[in-house]
Amino acid sequence: MCGIVGYVGPKSTVDVLIGGLRRLEYRGYDSAGVSIISPLGGLETRKKAGKLANLEASITEHQLPISHIGIGHTRWATHGAPTDGNAHPHLGGEHQKLSLIHNGIIENFAELKAELVAYGTKFASETDSEVAAHLIAREFDASGDLPTAFATVVNRLHGAFTILVIHEDQPDVVLAARRNAPLVIGLGDGENFLGSDVAAFVEHTKRAISVGQDEIVILRADSVEVRTFDGKPVVSEEFTVDWDASAASKGGWSSFMAKEIADQPQAVADTLMGRIDSDGLVTLEEIDGLDEAAIRSLERIIIVACGTASYAGDIAKYAIEKWARVPVQVELSHEFRYRDPILTRNTLIVAISQSGETMDTLMATRFAKDKGARVLAICNTQGATLARESDAVIYTHAGPEVAVASTKALTAQMTAGYLLALFLAQVRQTLPAIQLSAFGKELLKMPARVTRVLDNLDDVRALGREMSNAKSVLFLGRNVGFPVAMEGALKLKELAYIHAEGFAAGELKHGPIALIEEGQPVIVLVPSPRDAETLQPKVISNIQEIRARGAKVIAIAEEGDTAVSDYAEHVIYIPQSASMFAPILSVIPLQVFALELSTAKGLDVDQPRNLAKSVTVE
Ligand code: G6P
Repeated sequence: MCGIVGYVGPKSTVDVLIGGLRRLEYRGYDSAGVSIISPLGGLETRKKAGKLANLEASITEHQLPISHIGIGHTRWATHGAPTDGNAHPHLGGEHQKLSLIHNGIIENFAELKAELVAYGTKFASETDSEVAAHLIAREFDASGDLPTAFATVVNRLHGAFTILVIHEDQPDVVLAARRNAPLVIGLGDGENFLGSDVAAFVEHTKRAISVGQDEIVILRADSVEVRTFDGKPVVSEEFTVDWDASAASKGGWSSFMAKEIADQPQAVADTLMGRIDSDGLVTLEEIDGLDEAAIRSLERIIIVACGTASYAGDIAKYAIEKWARVPVQVELSHEFRYRDPILTRNTLIVAISQSGETMDTLMATRFAKDKGARVLAICNTQGATLARESDAVIYTHAGPEVAVASTKALTAQMTAGYLLALFLAQVRQTLPAIQLSAFGKELLKMPARVTRVLDNLDDVRALGREMSNAKSVLFLGRNVGFPVAMEGALKLKELAYIHAEGFAAGELKHGPIALIEEGQPVIVLVPSPRDAETLQPKVISNIQEIRARGAKVIAIAEEGDTAVSDYAEHVIYIPQSASMFAPILSVIPLQVFALELSTAKGLDVDQPRNLAKSVTVE
């Protein structure tokens, strides 16, 4: 968490920094701040607790001077409450000429702070970050060489950090270091940028370099130098950002979340683009790193992910096991990493992450690689650490997702999961060609079906508004509907702060049914009645059981399933599809339900309390 932006060049630095922070605010919104160096007045810093809007208001009231170099930060608090004083940037040195911003946690900060206190250093904040500011300022005062002073100090820090520094006495350079937290360089013409991700600068340039682990960047308007922490030059590869800058703006929608829900037909279509041929067969050139022999000899797949991405993993498990006949287990990254799992060279790790920066997922994949397993990432962000560190990447092409609660990234992840399952089945020859082709062709029809779902959501919106006083909502699903139920509950917790639980419908009778009392709202994902292995009658029985105990049932069912209306107060219909693909459609009413309910409660749907989009601490 925490968003970081740096700039050096001819533009108005404050405008570039604020624009970048606006696009990075999803990473944390406890406080925000900027430092610039003005050619006349030296270092100037402005920081404010609360959302970026507070900082913007302060700058509008008291303008900052023209400047061509600066750094900016939006914070998700770890050490120290979200106050003005703990907001970044932090100043270092006796004359406060150095300014520093930090994303991550400096684990040995107490020891380093004790050292500084012994020298008589006074601290203005309770943060771990301020320690680094004072240490670098001291080293610079001693050596007069800022890059060397910077390198000396970052080598002493333990933990996770992206750190950016500017110094009044060196007004042409931004220094940056990266260990276990993200950092990307934006290459301009006579100007250069730094950001936690490419969203920070995509409106100015699409040329980017992803900074590697334990690397330092020396950024000037006309040059970019990358070195390792021990001073060796690094030759970095440039890439072109395929996000459109306008995709990261609200574009007339009431919230980023509303826009991103509406983006889903495109997100699914773009994720499919070029990956299914006219015969319906899947081509995944990106996973060349995993050769066919390796895919045939796979013994096990472990999917690691957190939050919403883990539900995409659950759905991929159903598809991979059914079609490609490889045992799959889905693990929350943070649980997987610390339980000493058994891994072999024939285990494939599939790491799913929108941001590609979720620390829990990164640590899980690093651990698995160390044990000899291969890692395939499903990731939405070019240049992200996860993508860099994996053997192969299937990019989802959902475009930038700004709202904290994930929507279009999820449906794109589901799409990528289906593509992977079909590809594995093709290579392993576990499905007849005719079926492979039929599934491939049907997948191509999903974007149009998603559009149809989006066009018919008035009832869901009304329900969301009507139920804004609900104390608790339960979600039931079976088979691929189970992870969708979990996601529906998570959305409601994240956005509306009300108690919500997702259950496997078959598990109901083993305990959760005790929760049912008169008027309890229960949203039920009803499987297709057309499926040969249909579970629909069993789910209808479950509905009967809860209705007999007073539940108010809202069913999400397939068009044509008229039987359901006899058992539910409300039925939301979604288009027919192969059962395996239904989650791409059935999750959408649940997203919209949570959005409406949260909006009706007057809450901020894009930036729910206590959360950050990209969780870069363990
Ligand atoms: C956070 C976000 C969730 C997201 C999860 C995983 O918890 O609040 O919305 O699903 O991280 O994020 P990732 O970027 O790894 O998909």
